[in-house]
Amino acid sequence: NVETKVDSVLNLMTLEEKIGQLVQYNGSWDLTGPASDMDNKQKEENLKRGMVGSMLNVLSVEATTEAQKLVMENSRLKIPLIFGYDVIHGYKTMFPVPIGETASWDLEAMEESARIAALESAAHGVNWTFAPMIDISRDARWGRIMEGSGEDPFLTSKVAVAKIKGYQGNDLASPTTIAATAKHFAGYGFAEAGRDYNTIHVGENELHNTILPPFKAAADAGVATFMNSFNDIDGTPATGHKILQRDILKGDWNWNGFIVSDWGSIIEMVDHGFARDKKHAAEIALNAGSDMDMEGGAYEASLLELVEEGKVSEEKINDAVKRVLRVKFKLGLFEDPYKYSNPDLLAQIPFQEHQETARDIARKSIVLLKNENNILPIKSSVKNIAVIGPLADDKDTPIGNWRAQGEANSAVSLLEGIKNTVGSGVKVTHAKGAALGMGERSFLAPLEINTTDRSGFADAVKKAGNADLVIMALGEDAFQSGEGRSQVNIGLAGLQQELLEEIYAVNKNIVLVLQNGRPLEISWAAENIPGIVEAWQLGSESGNAIADVLFGKYNPSGKLPVSFPRAVGQEPLYYNQKNTGRPFSPNSVTYSAYTDEKKDALYPFGFGLSYTDFEYGDLQLSSSKMTPDASIKVSFQLTNSGDVEGKEVVQLYLRDLVASTTRPVKELKGFQLITLAPGETKKVTFEISEEMLQFYNAERKWDSEAGEFHVLIGGNSRDLKKSSFTLNK
Ligand code: IFM
Repeated sequence: NVETKVDSVLNLMTLEEKIGQLVQYNGSWDLTGPASDMDNKQKEENLKRGMVGSMLNVLSVEATTEAQKLVMENSRLKIPLIFGYDVIHGYKTMFPVPIGETASWDLEAMEESARIAALESAAHGVNWTFAPMIDISRDARWGRIMEGSGEDPFLTSKVAVAKIKGYQGNDLASPTTIAATAKHFAGYGFAEAGRDYNTIHVGENELHNTILPPFKAAADAGVATFMNSFNDIDGTPATGHKILQRDILKGDWNWNGFIVSDWGSIIEMVDHGFARDKKHAAEIALNAGSDMDMEGGAYEASLLELVEEGKVSEEKINDAVKRVLRVKFKLGLFEDPYKYSNPDLLAQIPFQEHQETARDIARKSIVLLKNENNILPIKSSVKNIAVIGPLADDKDTPIGNWRAQGEANSAVSLLEGIKNTVGSGVKVTHAKGAALGMGERSFLAPLEINTTDRSGFADAVKKAGNADLVIMALGEDAFQSGEGRSQVNIGLAGLQQELLEEIYAVNKNIVLVLQNGRPLEISWAAENIPGIVEAWQLGSESGNAIADVLFGKYNPSGKLPVSFPRAVGQEPLYYNQKNTGRPFSPNSVTYSAYTDEKKDALYPFGFGLSYTDFEYGDLQLSSSKMTPDASIKVSFQLTNSGDVEGKEVVQLYLRDLVASTTRPVKELKGFQLITLAPGETKKVTFEISEEMLQFYNAERKWDSEAGEFHVLIGGNSRDLKKSSFTLNK
């Protein structure tokens, strides 16, 4: 068994070799932060001596083979390297960015895209992805909101499990599956004011009820590794957070994988003012439970001395090393260190099939936000379409940020998708109007936005004026969201709003297609533009998928996993807020609201339209009283009252009216995807168990409390049917 094997290897290791397993080197370049000050020659020497446990960003069969050989042919114990990489929404075949894919609410689809990403990664020598990112994020200013599943802990937990299943499969030792990472532990998505890497101010209640549940779900699902985070939480950097890492994750949750630091996050504790120097940072991190040092150089420089000085125990080192070895054994690396660097596997990858799946998942992720007078799907009477905007013929933006090996400019653009779809009787014209992102566009380069060049406006306005229908392609550049891409403005950047208004002046028949990685502030468009489609950054098949929806080949069913604000000043904005002591007061201003804007979302969490209509019948409860041993059922009739088939994401929310700590006004606790033919009615049932009522309470326990609960069901978090029951204990 694995434990016996792990122990047998550990027994052979010197202290230096053990520390080596806790060191991770970057493959070739400094990507996302301060690298260790070591040159490549020295790295090579250390690999040969078996002083390195892992590498990241080593990509290709050849490169991984070469690095693995350095270890296998030179080191004393020949402990294979594990190769990590950020495979976030695909390796080569690109799927929607995670916030977009989550909008599908389709867990099978999300598992499938992870399975494909794992297959493509594994065939290139990568056996460990730093995904899924399961940070709850409620602030659209935070650029990394694109990489997660939005604002809700329940939905994010479900996505986490689906993704982990997809990456890891049932057998981690298969050469087609890879180890996953639950990141960033913890709190990263609560960066104050949405500014990346910023301090997190959360209390214990928020930490346990909102931030930790997806991580608990990931641990329970057997995720192989965790990554900690850059931020400090209430005064303690996550990397040096013993309570989080040792007490909760490894203790209470009994999780036996290993924790990798974020890039340099151990030495960054010096900048946090939490460690005096690199050595002190290593001491704090290891003692707090951070097992592997990503490109920070702190462990390799200091751990040996720290053990000799008695500041770090060898027992703790042993525990960390065992965790790393365990994952390597599970991956099957000890049997065959080169199993993931196999050219035969690469030759068998069905890339074409993956494109088809990418198209299907992309169209499932599209959210129809507005459809006044059924402007969509586009009617056959429309014979002249103008496709306008900076993102209209953009083959790069749909690839999004965190694109792994997704090639630049490799997506099907919206214009291409439209041309692929319309028949020869429809004229399609195109004008960019204005550029958006300019200059070098890459993961690290600051993005330059065009705010001055209006030279394309006249052509765009002319073409729009002559068209039956205008499709406006606006949103964000791929490198506007992602790491380090926080913004204080979240409207249409650059000249886009101006362009939109000039086009509107000549033709009001507009469908606005948004491609973006964060919720945008689009109040003017919501007021004036008849059709709005949220198409995120949908990956390789983006244009074809959007065209499928625009022309009615696919009836949209996506629902927002994150609230869209009326104004940026509402951020952080989320549906599951607390009621406050002053939720409303008639004829007064002294309640919790804004004087210059409504307080609710423009488009709420869970919102999305369809080309058909769904009617929700009244809720029927099997009993109005529940006990811990007897769950109850809530049912209702769902009818497709329109004239096309459609899929509805039915959402169940609960509210605990009085509790030992204040509770949200509603919390998602279940959802089902229901497909109905036109005119069809179906009875939908949810079971509500006592477990679903549990929360981290005033006694610091997960438990339910007796009392009254509301049960709320509907097609978004705002428009809900309501009933109530009591829990007796
Ligand atoms: O995995 C990432 C992490 O999310 C941010 N910092 C760098 C890591 C490795 O690239």
